[in-house]
Amino acid sequence: MSHSYPDQSSRSAALSRRARAVFPGGSTRGQTYYRPYPIYARSGEGCRVTDVDGVERIDFLNNYTVQLFGHCHPEIVAALQRQAALGTCFTLATEAEIELAELICGRAKSFEQVRFANTGSEAVMNAIKGARAYSGRPKIAKCEGVYHGSYDYAEVSLDPDPQNWGTDVPASVGHSRGAPKGMTDDIVMLPFNDVAGSRAQLERHADALAGVLLDPVPSRCGGYPASPAYLAMLRDFTRQNGSLLILDEVVTWRLHYGGAQTLYGVESDMTTLGKIIDGGLPIGVIAGTAEAMAVFDSSAGKAACPHSGTFTANPMSMAAGIAATRMLTQEAIDRLNGLGERARDKLRATFARAGVAGQVTGEGSLILMHLSEQPLGDYRSTYRAHTEAAAARLESLFRHLLNHGIVLSTWGMACLSTPMGEAEIDHLADAVYASLKEMETDNASAETS
Ligand SMILES: Cc1ncc(COP(=O)(O)O)c(C=O)c1O
Repeated sequence: MSHSYPDQSSRSAALSRRARAVFPGGSTRGQTYYRPYPIYARSGEGCRVTDVDGVERIDFLNNYTVQLFGHCHPEIVAALQRQAALGTCFTLATEAEIELAELICGRAKSFEQVRFANTGSEAVMNAIKGARAYSGRPKIAKCEGVYHGSYDYAEVSLDPDPQNWGTDVPASVGHSRGAPKGMTDDIVMLPFNDVAGSRAQLERHADALAGVLLDPVPSRCGGYPASPAYLAMLRDFTRQNGSLLILDEVVTWRLHYGGAQTLYGVESDMTTLGKIIDGGLPIGVIAGTAEAMAVFDSSAGKAACPHSGTFTANPMSMAAGIAATRMLTQEAIDRLNGLGERARDKLRATFARAGVAGQVTGEGSLILMHLSEQPLGDYRSTYRAHTEAAAARLESLFRHLLNHGIVLSTWGMACLSTPMGEAEIDHLADAVYASLKEMETDNASAETS
């Protein structure tokens, strides 16, 4: 069925009007809302999602990188059905939690033990608290502009601007209004991939530093990986300083069987995982060396860092996680990474053919489109390149793509899933070309009217 977007007579538009009464801003999840109304999903199968109006699109967003195996993978559905019939959660431990932990341990060099949580944000929160407990110090360093979920410490300086981001040294800016100053004081801001600038910041706060939190390929810094020199500096500094190197691999886990840390050859003390590890159910994982993870040990009394949670290691998440982790082989990842290369090449060629100034970045099966040719490499350059006009063009591209059978993010991010093949990548490139041409026509008619 074809239903062009936007269409105020559609079922999605009607649901959005209904949602406005019960949700502030008409939505319970910022990422699924866009103007004039968000599309509502009815079902998904493989790499396709069908909305409540019956329109089918190829899903290049996959619940923000979660659905690496697409929707309703038969092995994940079967695992969930088996577990649902046995019970969805207990106040008893289960064998499934040990099995999933065993599958995760050993996938990267430092993964000796794990603790489960329910989301990536919760995993990051516990890793931060764990690093403080390990070192007895309060401060965490993170890179400016990088997203690590919704723990308020992790949100510091998520979207600073030239008015507040500081001049000589990067400032720490609270994300929500009313963020306590004590909190921002305890988060040290690092300029991504700037070895000297970051080292100077770390030295300034060395005595109080508990750990460094790093996403190895932060999308908000342009989609490039941390350089070998940057990773080596962070590893050496934290080791000598007695603080922890925490890698946030909630997204980058998809790049290699042992995550980005194995691909780039850096050993972490703790790692946070989530999203794809669970085949579509909620999860968070804190994995690390036995020495670092000992902070969570409560077998002999109160742990240095107490950790629990009603839904932690719930058997539904464990069952999906076991099925998904077994399927996440290096072979599956290599195939996806190859498709990612093809997608980036095709999209670059598409921009050139359409005569549009843009660039395509990303690693493995993660793809980022930018409608700007300004250099990217850290948060500040990415902020400057993504002017209001460039961001509006990307959002317009997103809307046009909806009418060409494609879903990706409003800011140009796409990711791949295993049910995809070359045909889906070619469809994406053709749809981007057609959308860019339509946008040109829209502009020309706006100028003449
Ligand atoms: C790098 C990174 N860390 C942590 C999170 C938070 O995960 P969740 O949304 O499951 O809380 C995200 C979510 O997008 C993320 O991209």
